Amino acid sequence: MIAAVRGKRIVLGVTGSIAAYKMIDFARKLTQAGAQVQVVLTESATRFVQPLAFQAVTGVPPASDMFALEDDRVAGHVAMGRAADAVLVAPATAQTLAKLAHGFADDLVATTVLAARGPVLVAPAMETRMWLSAATQENVARLAQRGIVVIPPESGELASGEIGEGRLASPDALAAALDRALGGPGPLAGRRVVVTAGPTAEPLDPVRVLTNRSSGKMGYAVAEAARDAGAEVTLVSGPVALAVPAGVACVRIETALQLRDAVLAALPGADAVVMAAAVADYRPAETAEGKIKKERGGGELALRLVENPDVLRAVVAARKPGTLVVGFKAETGDAVGAAERMLRDKGLDLVVANDVTSAGSEFGSDTDEVAFVSAAGSERQPLLPKREVARLLVGRISVALSGRGTL
Ligand code: CTP
Repeated sequence: MIAAVRGKRIVLGVTGSIAAYKMIDFARKLTQAGAQVQVVLTESATRFVQPLAFQAVTGVPPASDMFALEDDRVAGHVAMGRAADAVLVAPATAQTLAKLAHGFADDLVATTVLAARGPVLVAPAMETRMWLSAATQENVARLAQRGIVVIPPESGELASGEIGEGRLASPDALAAALDRALGGPGPLAGRRVVVTAGPTAEPLDPVRVLTNRSSGKMGYAVAEAARDAGAEVTLVSGPVALAVPAGVACVRIETALQLRDAVLAALPGADAVVMAAAVADYRPAETAEGKIKKERGGGELALRLVENPDVLRAVVAARKPGTLVVGFKAETGDAVGAAERMLRDKGLDLVVANDVTSAGSEFGSDTDEVAFVSAAGSERQPLLPKREVARLLVGRISVALSGRGTL
């Protein structure tokens, strides 16, 4: 499965979610890949899965009772964390996330995480409402701030039969995150990706701008996903209220002209350019030096606008062969048809089409219902968190750059 786990000591913390059963196969795959896997179960995890099942696939008896550890010469409750090259808690319940966020130490998974010297990863799995609750989100944010890798849950059918976000990340996503945490190269290692995000703001005078409702969430999610895949990422960002993902180089711009210059400056050496920014098609013909006074209009004020350069076209014209160029098409109506035209017209490799009038896909939302449109056809996706759309997009870019397929 993954190269970086070979010979590594990995503690797999399994907590009380129905998804615990999935970890038996994951533990087997880790073991087959050459890892030494020590499974640690919480008491409630043992209600869902038999410890013996883990022993059968890893060859090592799982631990769950911190007062029953054989090797207590070195304080058994922390020994496993100290010795581990990485600790992966999957599935992580809301209860475990809360414990870890607040440093509780009343079970073996919690003490192992507290004592860990190497990277710690958590893969939450729970019902959508619990996942989206303010408490859980705050706990997850706290863990992420502390450097714990949060492997976000996926959308899909949950144990309750409901459809929503909260399903344990796929084995591939768990493996990729573990691989990266252990210093593995990731599918985009050695690649450079340029991402644009957010709105542009075109000044009318020193205090007013023409802008749009883009939140930047999509572009930031793409930058983060590309970074997670091992790429060196340059994020060209318009004014947004989002934190730049750690490890991503950010160039801040305001106008479309600045955005074009920043993208073209970053283009040499880029393997992929993802244009998620909502670029103003027009800018004011002139920017007033002083604040425009109300009286100037006399009840009506006309603005003269001039067209901005099309950055995508400029990128396609200037790219070296092999650089992938991805555009976004937000449309009110037939987004796929518009995306197909844009793909051909601008010579792009892929267009992410998004009908901004469909429920859940509005500007500023955390979810999108998109279609990936390329020369190979169009693939509609269900309503997904933007992070997941970003991961799918980065996955396609990785496959295309590795020559294993097309966008
Ligand atoms: N884009 C660009 N340069 C511009 C405007 C947009 O590179 N001056 C990029 C955006 O980053 C996005 C895509 O082009 O990737 C959007 O395409 P476009 O056809 O301009 O979409 P709209 O602006 O939505 O089109 P229209 O206004 O014609 O509906």
